[in-house]
Amino acid sequence: MAKYVVTGGKKLAGTVRVSGAKNAALPIMAAALMTEGETILENVPNIADVRCMGRILESLGAVVTWLDANRLSIKVNGKIGSGTPYNLAKKLRASNLLLGPLAGKLGRAEISMPGGCLIGSRPMDLHIKGLKAMGADVTTEHGLIKAKGKLQGEKIYLDFPSVGATENLMMAAVFASGRTELENAAKEPEIVDLANFLNAMGAQIRGAGTDLIRIKGVKELRPVNYSVIPDRIEAGTFAIGAAITGGKVRLENVIPMHLVPLIAKLKEVGVHLIQEEDALEVGGKEEYAPTDIKTMPYPGFPTDLQSPMLALLAKAKGTSMIVENIYENRFRVAGELKRMGANIRVEGQAAVIVGVDQLYGAQTKATDLRAGAALILAGLAAEGLSEICGIEHIDRGYEGFQAKWNSLGAEIKRIED
Ligand code: UD1
Repeated sequence: MAKYVVTGGKKLAGTVRVSGAKNAALPIMAAALMTEGETILENVPNIADVRCMGRILESLGAVVTWLDANRLSIKVNGKIGSGTPYNLAKKLRASNLLLGPLAGKLGRAEISMPGGCLIGSRPMDLHIKGLKAMGADVTTEHGLIKAKGKLQGEKIYLDFPSVGATENLMMAAVFASGRTELENAAKEPEIVDLANFLNAMGAQIRGAGTDLIRIKGVKELRPVNYSVIPDRIEAGTFAIGAAITGGKVRLENVIPMHLVPLIAKLKEVGVHLIQEEDALEVGGKEEYAPTDIKTMPYPGFPTDLQSPMLALLAKAKGTSMIVENIYENRFRVAGELKRMGANIRVEGQAAVIVGVDQLYGAQTKATDLRAGAALILAGLAAEGLSEICGIEHIDRGYEGFQAKWNSLGAEIKRIED
């Protein structure tokens, strides 16, 4: 298995272009199946998760081609399949985002049930409840979620503003008869991006980005060219990287508004930030104040930047607390950070972090994507060499990882075992 070896102590400096958002590209790719003809997506990150979604679309009958580094063509001609293959679906939780598009377009879908994962159990009950409310006959058996039947518009209240359930039900409602209202919908920027894409194709979706999304059913969609929004989580990871190394980094291709909760916390601990329309300058310091963070659905602090912040706060002057409200197992990375000298006590959904003066290089293991990012960040700030294995998680979600970080002066080597 491959690993990264990070030489600590280098201050990051320079400019980096943030890639397209993984969490916007994946649902948008799924939605491209809802039309006929060629959809061209720009600013798509070439990462393992996106390539895997491409293979799933191909298994359903689409032709998926990279036109250049970040431009993806998805061609749909004629009939598409209704079932996702287990061998691919098991690699990518976001394969569950085909449930809505297929159920809406074909009136049937058989999706491999995504399992739990290391960060939490991640059930599908809200997706299923919503589709049932729209008239589908939904069963779960033999590891499959099967939905059958023509969908009709309905008022649906989500018990929790789940990103995936909002996306699936929004896509399902596009071809449903009549009007659908999603109440207590998730408000993440990736949902707005998906709605903008669907609307560009001819859907009638209003209110994405608020907690009430209204969808009026349409008969068909037309293919379009569309550019995916920048990845706020990758941007946030670079921002924390600049901070933790005491460096100075300019991030380009960012939407600072999407980073408001992170920017607020970074300012609070003492990071210097200058926001421009589509860029962000981050200036680090030698010492940071502690802070408390609660992860929440957007516009609250994103759970996906919780592990990277854990690494930063591990070096703050004083005691911080992080409460994780989205996933039950997202503090596994604390054990790995402790191997590097961090002082973190986890109690249930809370972590108490007593800042230390210095982290030290150690051998560690990434247990999930964002844990991997946190360990790289800690490695950059640590004294000596750190080894991070389990880096297939990092490949899933960060484009050109090693090249981008090294272009800022990091010293990260990839070693293939
Ligand atoms: C998406 C993101 C992921 C991010 C998460 C929360 C993608 C591809 N992934 O994941 O990076 O960490 O949002 O911001 O966009 N839940 C239920 N029942 C359901 C659905 C969800 O209980 O039917 C719970 C989950 O277990 C979790 C919480 O709701 O505790 C949030 O999950 P959700 O917003 O659905 O996350 P994803 O869409 O899977």
